[in-house]
Amino acid sequence: MILVTGGLGYIGSHTVVELLKSEEVLILDNLYNSEKKVLNRIDQITGKDPVFIEGDIRDEKLLDQIFTRYNIESVIHFAGLKAVGESVEVPLRYYDHNVNGTLTLLKAMAKHKVFNLVFSSSATVYGDKNPVPFHEEMPLSTTNPYGTTKRMIEEMLGDLSRSDEKWRIMILRYFNPVGAHSSGLIGESPKGIPNNLMPFICQVAKGERPKLNIFGNDYNTPDGTGVRDYIHVVDLARGHVLALEYLLKNIGLEIVNLGTGRGYSVLEMVKTFEKVNQISIPFEVVNRRSGDIASCYASTDKAKVILKFDAHKNLEDMCADAWYYMNLGENQ
Ligand code: NAD
Ligand code: UFG
Repeated sequence: MILVTGGLGYIGSHTVVELLKSEEVLILDNLYNSEKKVLNRIDQITGKDPVFIEGDIRDEKLLDQIFTRYNIESVIHFAGLKAVGESVEVPLRYYDHNVNGTLTLLKAMAKHKVFNLVFSSSATVYGDKNPVPFHEEMPLSTTNPYGTTKRMIEEMLGDLSRSDEKWRIMILRYFNPVGAHSSGLIGESPKGIPNNLMPFICQVAKGERPKLNIFGNDYNTPDGTGVRDYIHVVDLARGHVLALEYLLKNIGLEIVNLGTGRGYSVLEMVKTFEKVNQISIPFEVVNRRSGDIASCYASTDKAKVILKFDAHKNLEDMCADAWYYMNLGENQ
């Protein structure tokens, strides 16, 4: 059985759907940023019923009970907080959920001799000094507490792996996950005003917001707007299944980027969304957002070689599926 922490969240729920094709799954989620109805949606899509436990990864006793009661072979660890701006305002909350939460989970895993782990890291650890494309060996730096929690956890996992060769750890550095399951039943539902581009575009398309603010058009990029490596969340989810397969055959720790290797600008994203969904997206160019970098895209060589991973879905699919979910899934 695979323990998926944060399995009702955006990336976790899509990964659970992929895992359920061949595995038994136990989801641990405290519903901090997700809803229980996602469980029914997973059931509707897969016809399967994963075990769900509502609880916190920082709860040592609960983890002890879970590892005692269930035969867990591996853990995919998504649970954590991810809003960059909020992490600047309430850093201790981020260190607590992300770093302390991961530490508690690792201690429980060690106690119960579960040594296989896939961890959700982020391209944010490449910081603002490296040239694109970002490859796994580059030096790391972070510019906000959220990023620092990911970097600290990566270091903790490195130390752990060096201390005992029984650990098999895969750190996945995600680029920009967008889109939704093609059923329209699960997807991204940010609470409040979205920070990220795709959810914001969807809300403008729906008429919930009057226009998109484009944060700067004076970057050193082909059209001056920020360039990112958007990856369809279902491709990303498949990457986790491949990561798990790899772990079971190989010892040690690996760090792998999950992106498409192709960057798109904000304007390209807006135009593609408009074309695919036949909706116009009013926008205004405003000042740069502090902390943003011009370009961020992945070197995908390592993912291709060691995971045999390739993204299948393109920007059109990402725009179509995000919009379909916005109209179907979010309203049910
Ligand atoms: P999400 O917020 O949708 O999912 C995270 C889930 O974890 C939520 O369901 C939340 O309720 C749960 N959770 C939070 N704290 C918890 C705790 N202490 N105990 C138990 N459950 C808890 O986020 P997501 O987009 O699915 O991201 C998943 C992981 O991937 C996170 O670790 C995030 O930092 C990382 N990541 C996300 C992105 C992105 O752009 N979405 C990019 C890079 C990395
Ligand atoms: N953007 C806008 N207007 C918006 C929102 C975003 O112009 O309303 C632009 C940004 O300036 C950027 C691009 O769209 O150029 C993408 O922005 P997102 O906020 O969607 O994504 P980021 O690349 O800034 O951040 C994401 C995750 C972070 C993670 C980072 C690096 O949200 O958690 O990728 O991996 F740290």
